[in-house]
Amino acid sequence: MPGIGYRWRGGPPLSIEDYRRAARRALPDMAWAYVDGAADDQVTRRDNELAFRRWRLRQRGLAGVRAPDLSVEVAGERLALPIVLAPTGIIGMAHWQGDLAAARAAEKAGTRHILSTGSSYSLEEVRDATSENHWFQLYPFGDRVKVGELLDRAAGAGFTALFVTVDVPVRGNREAERRAGMTVPPTLTPGRLLDVAVHPAWWFNLLRHKRISAVHYAEGARTLSGAVEAVRKQERYMQTDLDWNDLAWMRERWKGRLYVKGLMDPEDAARAVDVIGANGVVVSNHGGRQLDRAPATLEVLPGIVERVGNRGEVLLDGGVRRGVDVVTALALGARAVLIGRPYAYGLAAGGEAGVTDVLRILREEMTRALILMGCPSAAELDGSWLLAGMGEA
Ligand SMILES: Cc1cc2nc3c(=O)[nH]c(=O)nc-3n(C[C@H](O)[C@H](O)[C@H](O)COP(=O)(O)O)c2cc1C
Repeated sequence: MPGIGYRWRGGPPLSIEDYRRAARRALPDMAWAYVDGAADDQVTRRDNELAFRRWRLRQRGLAGVRAPDLSVEVAGERLALPIVLAPTGIIGMAHWQGDLAAARAAEKAGTRHILSTGSSYSLEEVRDATSENHWFQLYPFGDRVKVGELLDRAAGAGFTALFVTVDVPVRGNREAERRAGMTVPPTLTPGRLLDVAVHPAWWFNLLRHKRISAVHYAEGARTLSGAVEAVRKQERYMQTDLDWNDLAWMRERWKGRLYVKGLMDPEDAARAVDVIGANGVVVSNHGGRQLDRAPATLEVLPGIVERVGNRGEVLLDGGVRRGVDVVTALALGARAVLIGRPYAYGLAAGGEAGVTDVLRILREEMTRALILMGCPSAAELDGSWLLAGMGEA
């Protein structure tokens, strides 16, 4: 695979799972626990993935499908494939190119990246490094003046859609991270230092590029003390009692398209669209990183699609690892999916080229699946393409 500076054990990665293994090898334990981990016992994180495997796909023969059209419209943009790169904070932990690599790879693939409030690169840096208008994710911290300033910056830098994440009123219990020493500040033991030492490329890039922080939270966030300060601020700013009035204020304040990310209940989704005036919702449990034992996103998707109807766009994330997963989500009514960890694995293993390759794999898998199903386009996918599975895979 050209451009990926990583020696693959046993050949180049063929699947997202291969990329996961490559990422595991590329990252020290601390960074791996952050990128791959989830909350508590990681039940919801596992359920997200398993839920896709319960469905079986209808297979129509002799349908004459040659090149299925994967394109969908999201937030007023025609995307070449129904896969958007989810917001991931401090993703410079996976690879120093972080958000810049993600945004560039997304636009090369004809889709979009959603820049996190907790990103490793600023809104303006992403704007300067890309040619498309990307989308911004907001963590609605309590201080409306600061939120307003950030929204003005995002609009000024050409970000066209806002994704307000509402499932982090408090941080999930990421035990795996804490066990690995990913505390604030990091807890460094001789064993952990040794682990970092056996990943010299990661360590070197960390020191050289200093991209392990949340730059929107603190000036000078790129020094270690700045990074610690940024994470502390991020925690301090969390608004535990966030409510619908806050969301209404954000809807009023942001003039572009607005989506609510992290809703899991049909009533909430309908309220966001019908009462608040959101353009859509992202059905998400934060990849199982927040409330463990929340249901799998795919499980609650049909109820939300039914309740929202065609009044808002319903997107989904959590556990998408194969092209057939995307097909299943769309058949159950999602307009598109977001992926988080899959591109973080690509990033960890190969920087921008790794993210590009992850998107290629999912595109090829999805194209092949639609040809085999005899389905001409992503737009045609609906419940008639699904059969209840025979239980767990
Ligand atoms: C390392 C990491 C950081 C994340 N940071 C954010 C964030 O800053 N804002 C946000 O809304 N969601 C964040 N998420 C959640 C993702 O946007 C997305 O909901 C989730 O990763 C989807 O599940 P998947 O990883 O199984 O694809 C993060 C996820 C990961 C893995």
